[in-house]
Amino acid sequence: MCGIVAYVGDRKAFPILVNGLKRLEYRGYDSSGVALAQNGSIALYKKQGMVKAMEDHALLNDTSGTTGIAHTRWATHGQPSDENAHPHLSNSGNLVLVHNGIIENYQSLKDLLKSEGFVFHSETDTEVLVNFIQYVQDKEQCKLRKAVRLALTQVVGAYAICIYDKDKPEEIVVAKMGSPLVIGLGKDEKFIGSDATPFLEYTKEAIYLEDGEMASIIAGEELDIRLIKTDGTVAPVIHKLQMDLESIEKGGYDYFMMKEIYEQPRAIYDTFRGRLLPEQGMIKMSGMEEYADKFRNADRIIMTACGTSWHSALVAEYLFEEFARIPVEVEYGSEFRYRNPVIRKNDIVIAISQSGETADTLAAIKMAKSAGAMVFGICNVAGSSIARETHAGAYTHAGPEIGVASTKAFTSQVTILTMMALELGKIRGEFSTSEYRALLNELNNIPKKIEKVLEKKELIEQISALYKDATNFLYLGRGVNFPIALEGALKLKEISYIHAEGYPAAEMKHGPIALIDENMPVVVVAPNNGHYEKLVSNVQEVKAREGKVIAIVTEGDKELLDSSDHVIEIPETLEALTPLLTVIPLQLLSYYIAVMRGCDVDRPRNLAKSVTVE
Ligand code: AGP
Repeated sequence: MCGIVAYVGDRKAFPILVNGLKRLEYRGYDSSGVALAQNGSIALYKKQGMVKAMEDHALLNDTSGTTGIAHTRWATHGQPSDENAHPHLSNSGNLVLVHNGIIENYQSLKDLLKSEGFVFHSETDTEVLVNFIQYVQDKEQCKLRKAVRLALTQVVGAYAICIYDKDKPEEIVVAKMGSPLVIGLGKDEKFIGSDATPFLEYTKEAIYLEDGEMASIIAGEELDIRLIKTDGTVAPVIHKLQMDLESIEKGGYDYFMMKEIYEQPRAIYDTFRGRLLPEQGMIKMSGMEEYADKFRNADRIIMTACGTSWHSALVAEYLFEEFARIPVEVEYGSEFRYRNPVIRKNDIVIAISQSGETADTLAAIKMAKSAGAMVFGICNVAGSSIARETHAGAYTHAGPEIGVASTKAFTSQVTILTMMALELGKIRGEFSTSEYRALLNELNNIPKKIEKVLEKKELIEQISALYKDATNFLYLGRGVNFPIALEGALKLKEISYIHAEGYPAAEMKHGPIALIDENMPVVVVAPNNGHYEKLVSNVQEVKAREGKVIAIVTEGDKELLDSSDHVIEIPETLEALTPLLTVIPLQLLSYYIAVMRGCDVDRPRNLAKSVTVE
């Protein structure tokens, strides 16, 4: 979590840094700060709250510097406050640092520094780090770059850092271990970001620093990249950025979440592009082709992910077992990494992550690799840590997802996983050609059908108004739509702060039914295939206890129209593909309820888009 931006060049740094921070607010937004090099000193402006609060405060002062580092925070050590906001100064007042990550051995370093007379003004691990670098520099009487390197060899934890010395502000030193850091290359200027969005309008050339690397960044000079451990030089690999500015702006919508919900038909087409070839009756996924033998002979697939991405893995579990008849296990990254799971050489691990930076998923991948498994990554963010850490993979190509609540990334993940399940079924000889083709054709129709679901917007808004003050919600689904019940509940709780639970519908009678009374809205995901009749009975059980039923049904449904309080129709499709349609009304329902409750939909409290801490 936390976002970092830095600039060194001829322009005024402040507007670049502030714009960059606003684009990175999805990484944390409880406080922010900037340090500018001007008139031989460090101008430091920090404020609790959104970047705008810090910007307004800074603009009352001098912001003319042309070198600067900036930070937007998601608190780990110490509550959100002006003092705990980054950048942090060293005791000498010479060094200033921003940091994304967690220094695990900060307490022992802090004890050492205290015994040497250092004092601390915040509760953060970052202030310990900047002082430790100063301590090493004083002891070794060396340049900043060397002091950073030597200090980091004694640091345990995750970090992306930017630091400069007020007496040599033309050089920013950066380093990375576990948290992302990208360097943008301008003509006589350089940019640094937690991702490339802060500098998209200035340059399309970027270098992604790898774990264990550091660099000395000076405006008009070649980058000097080194290994932290050995000081060995590293040849830079320059990437051409594909993203454009438009894709990271709101485009007339009130919130990114709504824009991203509406982008789903296009996002799914982009996920298909060049891969789903219905006329030729084939799917082409180069990442799978490369490991075709492994996929053909795999004994088991383990999927690992967190949050919404974990829900897409649960959908995929049904599809892989149904189409490819291969056993699948779905694991939370956080649990998998800390167990001692049985992983065999013939297992394939599929890791799923929108951001490609989720710490628990990344750690699970490293563990699976060290156990000898082939790891296939499904990520949305190109060049992300997970994309680079996996043996092979597929990008979802959903475009940047800025809203903290994941929407288009989810449907794109389900789309990729559906294609993989189909392909695997084919490779393993589990399909008749006609069945395979029918699924390909129908998958190709899904974006159009999502457009039809989006037309239900007004109805969903009206239903939302009736239930916006509810304190609890229950979501029920069966089979491949049980994960959609989980996803609907997660969406509602994360952006509206209403308590919501997702359950397999049949489990209701084993406990949750006790919660049902006239105040309990129950969302039932009940398309007309799969376990429809069973769901009709579940609805009766809820109605018998006066619960309020909002049913997601297939167009033309009569039975649930009569027995439910509200129905939201989706177009007819094959059972395996229903999750791509049933999830859409649930996204809209949570969106409208959150807006009506006055919540900041894109930046829900306590959350961040990239969870780079464990
Ligand atoms: C989704 O709405 C959530 N904000 C969250 O659960 C998210 O899906 C999770 O943190 C995993 O993120 P990733 O896909 O970037 O790994």
